[in-house]
Amino acid sequence: MANLETTLFGQKLKSPFVLSSGPLSHSGAALIAASQAGAGAVVTKTISLVRADNPMPHMVLSAPNTLINCEKWSDLEAADWIDREIAVAREGGAVVIGSVGLAPQDVRELAAKVAAAGAHMVEVVSYTEEAMVPMVREARKLVKVPLLAKVSPNWPGVVRTAVECVKAGADGITATDSFGPILRIDVATARPMLGGPFGHGWLSGAAIKPITLRIVSEIAQAVDAPIVGTGGVARGVDALEMLMVGASAVGVCSQPILTGLKAFGRLNRELSQNLDKYGYASPAAAKGVALPHLVDREQKTRLSFDYDPAACNDCHLCVDLCPYGARSLSKDRVMGLDEDKCRHCSFCVSVCASGALGVREGLRNRR
Ligand SMILES: Cc1cc2nc3c(=O)[nH]c(=O)nc-3n(C[C@H](O)[C@H](O)[C@H](O)COP(=O)(O)O)c2cc1C
Repeated sequence: MANLETTLFGQKLKSPFVLSSGPLSHSGAALIAASQAGAGAVVTKTISLVRADNPMPHMVLSAPNTLINCEKWSDLEAADWIDREIAVAREGGAVVIGSVGLAPQDVRELAAKVAAAGAHMVEVVSYTEEAMVPMVREARKLVKVPLLAKVSPNWPGVVRTAVECVKAGADGITATDSFGPILRIDVATARPMLGGPFGHGWLSGAAIKPITLRIVSEIAQAVDAPIVGTGGVARGVDALEMLMVGASAVGVCSQPILTGLKAFGRLNRELSQNLDKYGYASPAAAKGVALPHLVDREQKTRLSFDYDPAACNDCHLCVDLCPYGARSLSKDRVMGLDEDKCRHCSFCVSVCASGALGVREGLRNRR
């Protein structure tokens, strides 16, 4: 089995999975529980000068494997974290990343205290793009431990801001955060599903993975600094995808909320299996391997499909879902393709869960 040990800023992690800041990082004891369940490092709930008072409700299920939330920062006093919870987590064996936000004043007053309380690293997080770089600059003056800047997918210049954060002294980037604002309505009551202003919330979990991957890939090509790729990872194979676009470690928040802390054991096992399957000895060996392929893919060469009748489960989706009616499949599993109708979009391959249908370049059951 591939070894999952990962090094982040010289700190050894038993796994590349990091519990991101969220409800499961609400206290020192919660951080220990996540670490014991298999997280390589754990991020505190965001510590701020004023404790949060959350609207109700503030966290509900949305699409499969996906959450919407309007949960604020930590509802503990900053002093609770500084005087007790960080030390509890560290003494309990966790690698602790102290999250500090959400405005420059919070960093000024809290960053040094969070580091002195025992955080192995500090992560700075902001609600606004404008405040981020000044907050990093401020934090850099105050803390010697490795400094992460957490950037948001909702900022128009997210990649440029990540670059500026590194120039301002961040050692690495956490990319990214939940996506929004978004809205869901409870049709039984005609009211928003979430409390808070306008019922607006933020999306996290499986639905946001493609957004995260694109941003991580661009930041990885723009800065030479470790990235904690965070957003949408639900399975080991998602984590491999995140490493391939340049992440050094992989943040998860929604998946352990949705399936319990045992998610860390499963994610570790699945990542290890996928690293073995695709021939990578470690997470570091897979880092950035997709980046050279992110070039102009506007090629017009027609695809060459292959079909394995022995693997086919006769689901017929390749035929039924072809928008152009180009596919046919006989009862004795002879696959047909009308080349005049086929636009070579490859959707038939995408919907083939059994992996019977593929394209020569290698696209086979990549859902
Ligand atoms: C309920 C909830 C609360 C969160 N609270 C925080 C927070 O206090 N600070 C923070 O930096 N990120 C917070 N996040 C964002 C997560 O750390 C993470 O960046 C985001 O959810 C994307 O990862 P995921 O798709 O694995 O959940 C929160 C996310 C959720 C779902």
